[in-house]
Amino acid sequence: MEKFYITTPIYYVNDIPHIGHAYTTIACDAVSRYKRMKGFDVRFLTGTDEHGQKIQAAAEAQGITPQALVDKIHLNFKELWKVLNISNDDFIRTTEERHIKTVQAIFAKLMEQGDIYKGTYSGYYCVPDETYVPENAMGPNKTCPDCGRPLILMEEESYFFRGSKYVPELIRYYEEHVKAVMPKVRYNEIMSFLKGGVRDQSVSRTSLKWGIPVPGDEKHVIYVWFDALINYASAVGYLDDPEKFREWWPDVRHMVGKDIIRFHCVTWPLMLLALGVNLPVEVIAHGWWTVDSEKMSKSRGNVVDPFRMVKKYGLDPFRYFLLREVPFGLDGDFSELALVGRINSDLANDLGNLLNRTLQMIASYRDGAVPSCSDSSSPLSQLVPEVLPRVDEAMNNYAYDEALKAIWEFIGRANKFIDETMPWKLAKDESQQEKLSWVLLNLYEALRLSALLIAPFMPDTSKRIYAQLGQDSDPLKCRYDSFVWGDCAGTKTHKAEVLFPRIDIEEWKKAKEAEKKPEKPADTQPEIGIEDFGKVEMRVAQVVHVEEIPRSKKLYKLEVDLGYEKRTVCSGIKAFFTPEELTGKRVILVTNLKPVKLCGVESNGMILCASVKHEGKAEQLTLLTPEKDIPLGSRVS
Ligand code: MSP
Repeated sequence: MEKFYITTPIYYVNDIPHIGHAYTTIACDAVSRYKRMKGFDVRFLTGTDEHGQKIQAAAEAQGITPQALVDKIHLNFKELWKVLNISNDDFIRTTEERHIKTVQAIFAKLMEQGDIYKGTYSGYYCVPDETYVPENAMGPNKTCPDCGRPLILMEEESYFFRGSKYVPELIRYYEEHVKAVMPKVRYNEIMSFLKGGVRDQSVSRTSLKWGIPVPGDEKHVIYVWFDALINYASAVGYLDDPEKFREWWPDVRHMVGKDIIRFHCVTWPLMLLALGVNLPVEVIAHGWWTVDSEKMSKSRGNVVDPFRMVKKYGLDPFRYFLLREVPFGLDGDFSELALVGRINSDLANDLGNLLNRTLQMIASYRDGAVPSCSDSSSPLSQLVPEVLPRVDEAMNNYAYDEALKAIWEFIGRANKFIDETMPWKLAKDESQQEKLSWVLLNLYEALRLSALLIAPFMPDTSKRIYAQLGQDSDPLKCRYDSFVWGDCAGTKTHKAEVLFPRIDIEEWKKAKEAEKKPEKPADTQPEIGIEDFGKVEMRVAQVVHVEEIPRSKKLYKLEVDLGYEKRTVCSGIKAFFTPEELTGKRVILVTNLKPVKLCGVESNGMILCASVKHEGKAEQLTLLTPEKDIPLGSRVS
């Protein structure tokens, strides 16, 4: 049997799962299900990326070990995949023994063959993103081009991977395999990057503890990306199950977001060349989702929660929308209104109506049994040899939207067939009964095939349609090549049930408005006079130094400059900012609060922040900073 091994990126556990994560995984799920129905032997891997600075910091802030933290939070992803009906065959965590051993063995092998060597690394580093940023890629004022946060200059002893040695071979590979990176625009991007020259990469860190130790030199831990990329190999027995590895590795392909293609199309293949194993057959890069045309981010508070979307609109409409809405590879915009639009038109109107009308007519005109007729060929059956290859070609190119368009054209044609043949008129005419049977059989078959075609995208809906059609088999276990048109005369159908209730747009808009309006806060205070307010002295200050307070999980000790004097202030904002993020920030300080001792440190003032805490969500907190440059010490009133 032909093999098909596909992987999602492994997700950082410190993030709450959002539609970006859901999208990559649903896309892999749909193609895996499709390939299974085409007769491939499929292996679908997903997992979590659990090492690194952010986990270490979050665990410290919560006063627990990093292992305890990841043991808890990786479950968010496992739970989401259950809710999204993801058919992965394996789930790998980078803290698992099978992975750690593989990473160490690979590191040791590359060291032994001289492809990993010791040197010194100095560069600008983004702590939240755990990545060095080359000088030519830095944003204004030495900020991270991805997240915009300040970079810090780091220098450390480091191990380097001699990837540069394999660059010519990689270029040659890509020249010979133009579909190894998809879509074409990403292929071109990678080729020009490779041709611009690639330096050896630092693959170890001494600055953090939470990672896989370098074998034989334990003050270093292995760089998270070097560690993470290996998951694809450790999950299929690279280290201790050569047979399994030989079975799956030749057909490995990775689906990733466009932001991480360099790791997957440069770093990883260079590592594989050094290891002497074949390169991924395909790296498929998808675009990014914005939300109502804005970048999705925690600070904007517009992160779309897939759990919530599924609860509100149902799983299959959500899956359908993500895969149908954007041409794969391009960026897409998520809007609930667009989702509602698709539910009403594509799902309720086109597919739902076709099922309802057909089953009702079979019930009224043929007592619920699929009629037979002498010749089942029709304009619908004639479309089958067109639709199947169209869907196949689209799926081979991961063009989910094209595949769904082809299926919906077929569904649309079936609806039109009802309008053209007008079965309700045929029913009244004794001489047209054979034609009526022909119409009903064809509609039934169109639905049966549609249910199979949508199965990879909407598995539950496919099953529901199959059940209503009176088919006993599980559509997900069917094979496309065993489908025969006209096979089902005599099948007893069931009562039509609404698949997708229509959503009343006006009602929906009203509910949406109500959702937007925040509730009155519970902690509103009694009215005060201006003289009361005037008693609070607030001034512009700048954070000049940040220190941890060893005994405290929440507090930082900050040194702030008011221009006319410097002060020490304790602030409970450790969980929200790194020291680097705070250093240099202008803030508003309440300057006439009575000094107070916190964890042994005297605090002389209070920094103003705005915060919000919604039920079931992490608290959000932001510093108040002056909108323009204004001298330190300026009074706020
Ligand atoms: N841990 C690394 C991957 C290591 S793979 C060896 C990582 N994790 S991630 O959780 O940050 O991102 C995982 C995937 O989610 C990436 O493919 C990324 O492109 C995708 N998305 C994150 N935000 C996204 C959107 N807003 N839209 C679409 N996908 C996005 O990177």
